Amino acid sequence: MRILVTGGAGMVGSHLVDALLVRGDAVIVVDNVSTGRWRNLAHLEGRPSLSRIEADIAAPADSLRQIAAVDRVYHLASPASPVDYGRYPIETLMTNAAGTRAALECAARCGARFLLASTSEVYGDPVEHPQRESYVGHVNPVGPRSSYDEGKRFAESLTAAYWRTRGVDVRIARLFNSYGPRSRADDGRVVPTFCAQALTGRPLTIFGTGLQTRSLCYVGDTVRGLIALMERPGLAGEVVNIGSPDERTILEIARAIIALAGSGSGIERRPLPADDPTRRCPDIAKARALLGWEPETPLATGLRLALDAFRAEFSACTGAEVAVPSGAARALVVSGVHGRGEALPAPGNGWEPR
Ligand SMILES: NC(=O)c1ccc[n+]([C@@H]2O[C@H](COP(=O)([O-])OP(=O)(O)OC[C@H]3O[C@@H](n4cnc5c(N)ncnc54)[C@H](O)[C@@H]3O)[C@@H](O)[C@H]2O)c1
Repeated sequence: MRILVTGGAGMVGSHLVDALLVRGDAVIVVDNVSTGRWRNLAHLEGRPSLSRIEADIAAPADSLRQIAAVDRVYHLASPASPVDYGRYPIETLMTNAAGTRAALECAARCGARFLLASTSEVYGDPVEHPQRESYVGHVNPVGPRSSYDEGKRFAESLTAAYWRTRGVDVRIARLFNSYGPRSRADDGRVVPTFCAQALTGRPLTIFGTGLQTRSLCYVGDTVRGLIALMERPGLAGEVVNIGSPDERTILEIARAIIALAGSGSGIERRPLPADDPTRRCPDIAKARALLGWEPETPLATGLRLALDAFRAEFSACTGAEVAVPSGAARALVVSGVHGRGEALPAPGNGWEPR
């Protein structure tokens, strides 16, 4: 198949491109590398089945007009981390509005199936736990996160309108926190931030009490879910949560990363930012029923893969091995495979949450 991936130079997009190429698809990536990096696809350089177009999909020129005859459109382009959409709120709104329209028009023109990578942020700071797809959300339309939350809500609405009125076969994936190699260390999301801090021996920054929860899904599992949702017949118009139901406190995640990195880092506390959700956990019953999908990668395994990627990236930058403080040997022992709901390793540096 010929497949368009908008945002394919990003963290999730680049892993999706890998999986599609392995399947034998021809892939066109359109990305403006505002928050992603072409080096996420550097290992695929020279592959004839991969084309790259550097363009802003929200620009009036409509860069997607030049694309003819694709069978699938995966629409992932959008700033996605609080740091990124905080820095580019207008661009975030326009990418999700004009950019989503351009991607949907492309799918309509080509008769292609369309998948929107939406987000758990459409639920806002939820009052229902865990969040089912039927929950309509609790969103502040003018808060600091609103460019992303409302941008994605608009993108979902536009996607549903193309299905209802133009007959495009659309599917909406609501992704919960997805992590893994190829994140930017400075993107402000919890796993990259903690990994970078632990590997460089700086304190891990915790906002508020650290008792707020996140559920983390390894990017390989996320990509499997996206492809399953796109390819399963008869799901036009469906909205499906893709995420891990393994809910952890931020403190637990911080302690696990310190332990797995063998780091001597401590913890630094900061005030909780406005509109920061206190709990986030998907109900994935629908994904299980419709797609036979659920995450498979244990948290400790995924965190170790993310840490390995950051370690390699930092060594390449400095030309030296990243110095890992005492406890490295212990981390190798504790980082064995754990099942879902596993007890995560605790730091061996005497640090305890306050
Ligand atoms: N990673 C997560 O935890 C998560 C959670 C929920 C939803 N999502 C969604 O999944 C998608 C991918 O997220 P990610 O984590 O890979 O983020 P990312 O920032 O790594 O990737 C997004 C990509 O989109 C590109 N992009 C942004 N605006 C663009 C524009 N106007 N034109 C062309 N390209 C543009 C960026 O350069 C980047 O390569 C996003 O739509 C995001 O909202 C991700």
